Amino acid sequence: MHTWVEKKLQSLEQQKLRRKLDLPQGVDFTSNDTLSLKNEPSLLKAAHEAGQSFGVGSGGSRLLRGNHSVHAQVEETCATMMGLESTLLVTSGWHAVMAFTSAFVKKDDVVLSDALNHACLIDAIRSSGATKQIYEHLNLEDLKRQARKIRQWHEGRLWLYTESYFSMDADLAPLHDLLSLAEEFDIHLFVDHAHATGIFPESIFEHPRIMGHLIGGGKALGAAGAFLGLHRSSREWVINQGRAFVFTTGVSPLIAGALHGALNLLQEEPQRRHHVLDNAAYLRQQLGEQTHLQASGIGPIVPIVIGDTAETLRIASLCQEQGFDIRAIRPPTVPQKSSRLRVMCHANHQREDYDRLIQLLKDTRAQTITLPQNPAGKPRGLVVAGTDTDAGKTLVSALLQNAFAKQGIDSTYIKPVQTGDICDSQTVRQLSNADRIHPQSPLFHYELPASIDQAAEAEGRHLSLSEMLNRTSEVLHQTPAFPALELAGGVTVPLNDTEDQMDVLKGLKLPVVLCARSGLGTLNHTFLTVAMLRRYGIEVLALFMIGAPHTANKQTLRKRLKHLPIYELDNTNKLHAKDLQQWLETNSLQELFDELGLA
Ligand SMILES: Cc1ncc(COP(=O)(O)O)c(C=O)c1O
Repeated sequence: MHTWVEKKLQSLEQQKLRRKLDLPQGVDFTSNDTLSLKNEPSLLKAAHEAGQSFGVGSGGSRLLRGNHSVHAQVEETCATMMGLESTLLVTSGWHAVMAFTSAFVKKDDVVLSDALNHACLIDAIRSSGATKQIYEHLNLEDLKRQARKIRQWHEGRLWLYTESYFSMDADLAPLHDLLSLAEEFDIHLFVDHAHATGIFPESIFEHPRIMGHLIGGGKALGAAGAFLGLHRSSREWVINQGRAFVFTTGVSPLIAGALHGALNLLQEEPQRRHHVLDNAAYLRQQLGEQTHLQASGIGPIVPIVIGDTAETLRIASLCQEQGFDIRAIRPPTVPQKSSRLRVMCHANHQREDYDRLIQLLKDTRAQTITLPQNPAGKPRGLVVAGTDTDAGKTLVSALLQNAFAKQGIDSTYIKPVQTGDICDSQTVRQLSNADRIHPQSPLFHYELPASIDQAAEAEGRHLSLSEMLNRTSEVLHQTPAFPALELAGGVTVPLNDTEDQMDVLKGLKLPVVLCARSGLGTLNHTFLTVAMLRRYGIEVLALFMIGAPHTANKQTLRKRLKHLPIYELDNTNKLHAKDLQQWLETNSLQELFDELGLA
């Protein structure tokens, strides 16, 4: 069982989807504490006072001595403030939706659910056994079509579950339009205001078709728990039938007290809400004016959709390095190919915080291009890179071409930039005798055997990153064969005064097969190169050590670079095509093919 878990975790790691628990660091642009209430002295004081009167814990289920006057008081205050008939305090937002759903939604019912609803709504509907129909996010036409269809075969109860302020896209549900449809098709609503609470008070209102509201206590209110907003009789029904209310310990008096403090502060300091909305508007405006990035939605949640997960993680980690706690939100929390930075604006942020952040995001722009993709949605191809020049990249490129041919895969070899008069494409051709191997001529050729920037300068033919990426992209789009590109020199070799091969790799986003010369200095060169590549989210698929086999180095590399396949290729005697083919008879590159989706 543990091996199964380890394997699954590794697979998450490879997809860049493994989550880790980190401690808070840097300026908080991540938490839901948008009104900056969680450290407010008056909330701490209210919690302390409630604790002194009623204890830390409630003592049991609200039905078994866990019910205290502090619960009733805060429920009353919340109901009055929100203009609702009554509220019921529960352990969390998750418990709130579960308790409501187990009390009201039965397996013969049908539930319409917005495609971007939070996981707790999805799980609650699932656990009820009711039929779930998902409608396109905020698409009233689709919703109407589905409701009409359902009403052709279902006369019983029809529900609609929605958030009012969506937590990932930061858009608002058109509640009044939803209610008109609800009248037309006899639908009842459950509305989750977890992120609207304290921020968009107008979203919360009494309506006979809204059977339940979820009012969040753990987000802008800065504490924990949640209130269910209910008609009086519905409240009684949840107290009797809501399993997640009945069979759990009542909310701690500390939390009930803190929530009371938060509700009071909301009334006393309405400017907090205005500050956070102003901050968010400023960030959106500056992003649009000053950077290539766009933020969608409104309000304190500012989602900046990047798309690619590795690129999103890269930008998030650059922000973190500069003291901004900004996290990447990845699938499955958001749909595939919509990884994003989710910037949470807070009332106590200063304009300088935003100005610094904008400057940083401006600088993070990586030149990227769109390459042909493999069926898994990743760019198709690989790059052979070296820890320095003459590490054995051409040899490994030839070996890979032979390996592809042996596997029956149509491949091509491309050297984007060639310096000097030895043509690596010809070497690759000589080192292979299979018909299927088609090395291409270099895309840019300079006579001087020097670094790209020096060779380009010597000939007065400057090479820019965009020129390089555009030409490479053009060729990759034209070639149907699987491309393996060989980089010139090590990964930080300059292209010109300001751009280097790392920028090329960032732009291409292709995985890398790394070549290291075997011998003294291998370890340092290899660790530095792997660290650099990983820092920028570039996947390293395999390491080849070229030269006299060095068992101790291999062992050290294996220990430190866990999960990275390491191969040795001995070239102490000059190698020929038949030697490479022989190597392939005794070594398997299956792991590499699996990673490339070519198995
Ligand atoms: C929209 C939405 N509803 C409900 C919840 C659950 O609330 P809680 O964290 O109090 O369980 C969350 C939490 O992230 C949420 O985003």
